[in-house]
Amino acid sequence: MPDQLESKELKITAVTKNFSQGGEVTHALRSVDFQARLGELVMIVGPSGSGKTTLLSVIAGTLSADMGTIDLFGFTLSGAKSSAITSFRKRNIGFIFQQFHLIPTLTCAENISIPLILNGVAPEEIKPRIKEVLSEVGIEEKYNAFPKQLSGGQQQRVAIARALVHHPHLIICDEPTSALDAETGSNIMEIIRHLAIAKDRCVIVVTHDARIFKYADRTVNMDDGRIRSEEKNHR
Ligand SMILES: Nc1ncnc2c1ncn2[C@@H]1O[C@H](COP(=O)(O)OP(=O)(O)OP(=O)(O)O)[C@@H](O)[C@H]1O
Ligand SMILES: [Mg+2]
Repeated sequence: MPDQLESKELKITAVTKNFSQGGEVTHALRSVDFQARLGELVMIVGPSGSGKTTLLSVIAGTLSADMGTIDLFGFTLSGAKSSAITSFRKRNIGFIFQQFHLIPTLTCAENISIPLILNGVAPEEIKPRIKEVLSEVGIEEKYNAFPKQLSGGQQQRVAIARALVHHPHLIICDEPTSALDAETGSNIMEIIRHLAIAKDRCVIVVTHDARIFKYADRTVNMDDGRIRSEEKNHR
């Protein structure tokens, strides 16, 4: 399902993104260079409005950059057809968001099955794959539950299971712990740290949440559309 990658590196070079609204221009990304490697958990931190979500969206190809190049492990996003980008994303990227984004009318298992169905996984393979990933996130017994029957932390575990079930190479997390209390947030980061990081996988986490900075291999600081500094964390 996921692609055989040509390179171990995700590389963004001189990426610019402006938004125009009512004659006013916001410089959301000002010539940003950013790299991440397979096997690494990179955190992007910075004040509100500094461009973190915009950077994630440009990396995921859900927003197109005005200028610059985006190379995802050998797949060049810049200039690719939108159908090729959508198809790459479906096979190779998993998403985890602050508000979980589970579909309320579907059970946990059905929510988790979505990436498998989109990727054409054989029907007989789907149930065992869901069971396996639900047990990895520690809520096997919630297979038939609906999202509203779960706590916030449990809903985020389902969202993690959905992000991982098709074994993507890149996991993109936008404020994964912001809607959770401190202890639940730490549990969620432990799960992301242990399940998501693998030698053939890269995890990028955007966060405001100082309590989870310690889970990063590297931290990149953004401010006003620029990367100001970065530091390697000694874990
Ligand atoms: N679709 C849009 N249209 C117009 N302006 C936008 C749009 N999306 C983002 N912006 C602007 O671009 C800038 C960067 O926004 P972005 O969402 O990337 O910030 P952020 O760092 O993720 O902030 P937060 O921590 O609050 O989520 C902000 O000034 C924002 O208002
Ligand atoms: Mg944001």
